[in-house]
Amino acid sequence: MVRIAILASGSGTNAQRIVEYFNGHALVRVVLIGCDRSKAGVIQRSWDLGVPCYLFNGKLLRDGTVLRELLTQRIDLLVLAGFMRLIPAEMVNAFPDRIINIHPALLPNFGGKGMYGHRVHEAVIAAKEAESGITIHLVNERYDEGHQLAQFRCAVLSGDTPETLAERIHELEHAHYPAAIEKVANGM
Ligand code: GAR
Repeated sequence: MVRIAILASGSGTNAQRIVEYFNGHALVRVVLIGCDRSKAGVIQRSWDLGVPCYLFNGKLLRDGTVLRELLTQRIDLLVLAGFMRLIPAEMVNAFPDRIINIHPALLPNFGGKGMYGHRVHEAVIAAKEAESGITIHLVNERYDEGHQLAQFRCAVLSGDTPETLAERIHELEHAHYPAAIEKVANGM
């Protein structure tokens, strides 16, 4: 069994989709949802889904407490789903090639520190890009720079707002992220 912990900071639609995808799966189980924001929507989702939620702040992430919790829970694979903090080097080293992230743009463009959520879509629209998409990648100790596993594209339409583009991006994420995670888990 591959034991997954999801880390999320926001609404948690990807986290929910991933939990539902692996419900009853023969190889993969989501055993924990970790969250660093006390008011994040993902907390209610974890409650509704019946997956234990582990709340922590930035200090606990940096001082190794979160890493110890993940090791205690025998987590094999970490999945970031709208997680907005940098993963400490110690955690990257403890999970070599075992942390996956999804980014709501076509990296290496529109990535890096401060580029998350709606800010990404605002920047893509401001740059008058004809297309955007999602990047699924392994995590290293720098924002959005790890080895890419997959990219999927969609059009940016004239008249798009950050909200309408975010919706299209979310559809791509929900359609492709769980299967990309499954592929990594299969290879473990
Ligand atoms: C997703 O679009 C994800 O790609 C993005 O946050 C959103 C979370 O949505 N992640 C980042 O921007 C990371 N840099 P969700 O909470 O509904 O899953």
